[in-house]
Amino acid sequence: MQVTIKIKRFNPEQDKRPYWAEYRLMVAPTDRVLDLLHQVKWEFDGTLALRRSCAHGICGSDAMLINGVNRLACKVLVKDLGEVISVEPIRGLPVLKDLIVDMEPFFDAYKAVLPYLINNDPIPPGERLQSPEERAVFDETTKCILCAACTTSCPVFWTNGRYLGPAAIVNAHRFIFDSRDQGAAERLEILNQSNGLWRCRTAYNCTEACPRDIPVTRAIEEVKRELLWRRA
Ligand code: SF4
Ligand code: F3S
Ligand code: FES
Repeated sequence: MQVTIKIKRFNPEQDKRPYWAEYRLMVAPTDRVLDLLHQVKWEFDGTLALRRSCAHGICGSDAMLINGVNRLACKVLVKDLGEVISVEPIRGLPVLKDLIVDMEPFFDAYKAVLPYLINNDPIPPGERLQSPEERAVFDETTKCILCAACTTSCPVFWTNGRYLGPAAIVNAHRFIFDSRDQGAAERLEILNQSNGLWRCRTAYNCTEACPRDIPVTRAIEEVKRELLWRRA
């Protein structure tokens, strides 16, 4: 089938502002948007800039705005999009070139919530054991691949880039509810600050955007409740 792919392009070294470039391609309905972008890059214009690595929905590096929705380019099939496909960089982060954004602010927010196990007990001789029930409490939030689709679909983040954002809160949730962790109070204090989780207005864009089907808004609500419960 023939499709038109419209890509929002921007090279800061030569363009004053972003512009749409269109390419007509012959593709298979089961091709992914990533395949189309490769076709453009390899057959039409080698200067097209994009990030990708695994091409199988694991690494989280190719989140883009595809037909107006944040998705991973390697997981979206042409047959689900139609004959005209638009591709833009994710919103709210500075565009470095074409589809590549500066992820530093996103990872700064991630690092701010201490996304690692904190446990000051003496190191045990074996594993730190956990029951299946204890593990299930934070199972969903272990699935995050840090693609930024959630945070860059959040209207609060678009207007306030200092909001820590849903991805950071999801990764805080992953450790706050881990029975082996002792850093919950410290993380909740960080999330309780002015650009923390109370900025969330329950818009649900994050949940709809997540390619891992993580119930992001629910995780945020659980962290809010935990904070209120500990303060009561
Ligand atoms: Fe991506 Fe989902 Fe993680 Fe957000 S919560 S960064 S959308 S995997
Ligand atoms: Fe934003 Fe998600 Fe809250 S879209 S407002 S973080 S529910
Ligand atoms: Fe790794 Fe798409 S390229 S998730």
